[in-house]
Amino acid sequence: MISSLIKRKLEIGNYWCAEMEKALSAFWFHSVEQIVSVSVRDVVVHILEEKASERFFVDPSSSTKKNHPSWQNKISGLLRHVTEMCIGVWRIAQAFPQLNKSNPQAPIADILLPSIILHDAFKNGLPWGDKTDPRHHEIAAYIWLDCAHSAQIDCFISNQVHQCIWWHAGRFTPNFGETLLKNDYIAVMHLCDMVYSDNNLNLLYSPKDIILQPASTGQL
Ligand SMILES: [Fe+2]
Ligand SMILES: [Fe+2]
Repeated sequence: MISSLIKRKLEIGNYWCAEMEKALSAFWFHSVEQIVSVSVRDVVVHILEEKASERFFVDPSSSTKKNHPSWQNKISGLLRHVTEMCIGVWRIAQAFPQLNKSNPQAPIADILLPSIILHDAFKNGLPWGDKTDPRHHEIAAYIWLDCAHSAQIDCFISNQVHQCIWWHAGRFTPNFGETLLKNDYIAVMHLCDMVYSDNNLNLLYSPKDIILQPASTGQL
């Protein structure tokens, strides 16, 4: 069930429409509701409700429309990008079997899903502007860390999510080094962002209507 507070804010801002409701419902089902840890989920919801701009739920993925496939560049397109990553990450993570083995206390759902949900939540900066803020990774990573510390989230989870958000754009991030990709969480995060923002997807696929037939996790 989507956040009534976010719905209210979107209504007040005159953004609410049927298309957005579909995109937001799909997002909530495939992302927020798949987080296992209640305390981690609460922090993510808190950030979405209290820190993120309504425009995160409204805007297209690419302010220039040059990047991302076409269906991510319409109303609620950024939300679709994040939703598609949350669905696809399960399959991408299968190529990194050490992820689950290395720390069974911190399942993928509690590290990669929060990272994906928040990685572009401040994409156009704080306050939200008209184009991508080159420091959006940094803004989101620090907001997560601050809120996670206040909620006393497990240090391993808190730190891994912080790192995944910070390095999600890989080599496009200042001071990036290839050795960071030895951290499997960062490697999956970056790969997932690259795959689900590639505008070459236009040449190959049309999107499934993820809200009419909500696939169970990992089934896309
Ligand atoms: Fe980004
Ligand atoms: Fe992204």
